Amino acid sequence: RELLRGELAGDEVLVVSNREPYIHQQTANGIEVARPASGLVTAVEAVMRACSGTWIAHGSGNADREVVDKHDRVPVPPECPEYTLRRVWLSKEEEQGYYYGFANEGLWPLCHIAHVRPVFRSSDWEQYVKVNRRFADAVIAEARTDDPVILVQDYHFALLPRMVREALPRATVITFWHIPWPNPESFGICPWREEILAGMLGSTIIGFHTPFHRKNFLETVDRYLETRIESEASTISYGGKLTQVEPYPISIAWPGTTEVSSESQSECRANIRKALALPADHLLGIGVDRLDYTKGIIERFQAVERMLELNPSMVGRFTFVQIAAPTRSSLDEYQSFEARVRALALRINQRFSNGNYMPILLKAEHHDQYQLNRYYRAADVCMVTSLHDGMNLVAKEFIAARSDEKGVLLLSQFTGAARELHEALIVNPYHIEQSADALYRAITMPEAEQRERMRSMRTLVKDFNVYRWAGHMLLDAARLRKRERVMQRI
Ligand code: G6P
Repeated sequence: RELLRGELAGDEVLVVSNREPYIHQQTANGIEVARPASGLVTAVEAVMRACSGTWIAHGSGNADREVVDKHDRVPVPPECPEYTLRRVWLSKEEEQGYYYGFANEGLWPLCHIAHVRPVFRSSDWEQYVKVNRRFADAVIAEARTDDPVILVQDYHFALLPRMVREALPRATVITFWHIPWPNPESFGICPWREEILAGMLGSTIIGFHTPFHRKNFLETVDRYLETRIESEASTISYGGKLTQVEPYPISIAWPGTTEVSSESQSECRANIRKALALPADHLLGIGVDRLDYTKGIIERFQAVERMLELNPSMVGRFTFVQIAAPTRSSLDEYQSFEARVRALALRINQRFSNGNYMPILLKAEHHDQYQLNRYYRAADVCMVTSLHDGMNLVAKEFIAARSDEKGVLLLSQFTGAARELHEALIVNPYHIEQSADALYRAITMPEAEQRERMRSMRTLVKDFNVYRWAGHMLLDAARLRKRERVMQRI
């Protein structure tokens, strides 16, 4: 944290993201402040608290106009303000086309290989261009200096870097792409692929979670744009502008002090079981996701079913709690996914239920970080079975919560996290038999082996925490800023 502050001393920092870190909701009890379920927000918030500045985001609260206007520019966190949240309010039509349409029916399935077909509509694209322009204008208006550091987050703003660069040529624009980047063939089906790539190349630095996504990006640019690429140096020269492309694996804050329960590990274990009406020695699995088709929730339930089928002694002894925060629920694909998840949980529960016993407890509602930490600490195994995932911070949050060095992480090989957390039980989530075996291995793993694995994963997450993630990017940015200033003097 301190290092990060030092790195940015004297520089103006602006963040742009779609999701806002605090949502002001009008309720019967007045205004209440909610936190969204988003790995991106969790990570960037930790950075913003360390370096202050202004965070520009889409205002998503349901507060009425009068209240909303008052919350255009608010100091946050509400309890002890450390930076400014500047909201951009969108019309229904803009939100529909830019966020639900182009970003989440187009780019999201395009970049995640989860075999859901992307939908590209010209009308959505028009809104995407328009909203990128609106956010770019907000950035330009907020900037107090002509060379701020601008951290652009994710696939909602592929066009914004170039728009900002045109108005603020001396700015350092760092774009971080939080989701995977597919191979050139997959990306090439996007009707506006050239515009997206050219927009992103307005950035000084483009970051991905893994070297693999970076390689895919370089190959995609090489395929579709006239550029000069230096693969060794990982730079792209386009229209007289140089962009550095690097992997920066995202992480979590360490220690995550504020949201840790005051209960001891063993109290958490006992209290959660009591609350779920389970015996004290019951084996517990946990899954925490947004209800998204990329997360492999169906495959996870199938693995639980297969494990119980293969190991009848676990029927009545093992329960899997799936916490699934509703997300993007106005889209058909998400509605039908939720229906399939619910139907599968019901079928498996009917098959194995006995008295009060149900193998799957599906909690399809938002839980805050405090509640999640209690579940993480109570669980014997955490299952992260994404079909494709940029990083997956649930895996790292689970590890951070286990100061007792117990519990097993079962992790999909298709997450960015699997490239770092080698001591997890790594599975191919499409291979149900393999995941079922890994699940059984996890819940019967000797304590000494759990400790050995957990200890080394904890060391890694502690060392490569979110401040390192941001620190690496900002250090690279500082180096490039210096170089540019020297060049300007020559
Ligand atoms: C992913 C994306 C983020 C997004 C989050 C939640 O992590 O990379 O940009 O904020 O999902 O999705 P939502 O659409 O609710 O913001």
